[in-house]
Amino acid sequence: MTTLSVWTNLQLAPTAEPEHVIADAAIVVERDRIVWLGTKSALPEAYSAPGITRHDLHGALVTPGLIDCHTHLVYGGNRAEEFAMRLAGASYEEIARQGGGIISTVRATREASEDELYASALRRLDNLRREGVTAIEIKSGYGLDLETERKMLRVARRLGETRPVTVRTTFLGAHALPPEYKDRPDDYIDLVCNTMMPSLAAEGLIDAVDIFCERIAFNLEQTERVFNRARTLGLSIKVHAEQLSLMGAAALGAQYHALSADHLEYLDENGIKAMKLAGTVAVLLPGAYYFLRETQLPPIALLRKHDVPIAISTDSNPGTSPTTSLLLMLNMASTLFKMSVAEVLAGVTRHAAQAFGHAEVTGKLSVGAKADFVAWEVKTLSELVYWSGYDRCALVVRHGEIAVDQREEQQ
Ligand code: NIG
Ligand code: FE
Repeated sequence: MTTLSVWTNLQLAPTAEPEHVIADAAIVVERDRIVWLGTKSALPEAYSAPGITRHDLHGALVTPGLIDCHTHLVYGGNRAEEFAMRLAGASYEEIARQGGGIISTVRATREASEDELYASALRRLDNLRREGVTAIEIKSGYGLDLETERKMLRVARRLGETRPVTVRTTFLGAHALPPEYKDRPDDYIDLVCNTMMPSLAAEGLIDAVDIFCERIAFNLEQTERVFNRARTLGLSIKVHAEQLSLMGAAALGAQYHALSADHLEYLDENGIKAMKLAGTVAVLLPGAYYFLRETQLPPIALLRKHDVPIAISTDSNPGTSPTTSLLLMLNMASTLFKMSVAEVLAGVTRHAAQAFGHAEVTGKLSVGAKADFVAWEVKTLSELVYWSGYDRCALVVRHGEIAVDQREEQQ
């Protein structure tokens, strides 16, 4: 029995770059990997042998599977009531200081059972997958105690076992100060570093570690303690940095070779230079910028000047970005941040793969890469960014298998 499949009648954008689209291309997949791709006319004779599975994509445009490299997908409840308060004039920071914000989601997440968390996150995950997501990072951070952080991470792992999607988990125990540690942030960081992180790492539940470094969360010194512990445990580092003010966390993250620094509205040139040197990806989150009605734009021109890779992600979470559409984020990144089609597409493919820690095998289509790709019913890559609320995703293939099939009836 052959394990080969040949995909034809497609336009191929192997790196999601508009200038590198191959008209009338073919892809050959063996098990979960790409073994050949190129112009159909150059397809080696061997792949015409009988017994090979063939798929006609009817002229669809094929890109790498999309990577959502920053999400808080698992949580209890929602924050629609706080949204209404913000509409009436309260700010995100005010609500957080009054015990709402992240802490209100912590209460709901502690109360929810593992199955309830799984069921609600699954719906959000399936929405993302229907729009071409084949890999996703999922953070903890709404437990803030060992038991609930474990519950969230177990749910994240289970999502990756039950759905055809690659899940990487990030431990965000240092997301906010839990009420039981009021006025004792250093004691809570002790718990994060000495108990939670090593236990959860030993259970195989953590791929990376993140922290929210901000006035309403943790300071630079506490951030460094978390980075140090992550480093001794051999875990990758990420950081919520410079979202509401300039704290210097992106530069610090770069010193620790963080995979990414995320948000970055208040990032300065010093942080940008440090990120460039370390190869730290700038993850921009237009959904949070939009939903909080921020006016401080991330420093796009400086990121470009220093050639720092930029990724785009949903930040899917109940407080600042209640969205399950990565395509909408492409549209927002281009309209709100004035990024080009090429930049935003790189942001959910090759640059997202770098922030995700999987740049060798995902985020691009090449021989040896994972066969994770999406067939879109569009003519050009610009259409992926242009439409909003009009999903043109026809087929999602993940590790060589059809993961989502929404092809319109062929006449
Ligand atoms: O990425 N910035 C901190 N964390 C989340 C928001 C979490 C929340 O408000 O529930 C973010 O925006
Ligand atoms: Fe976030």
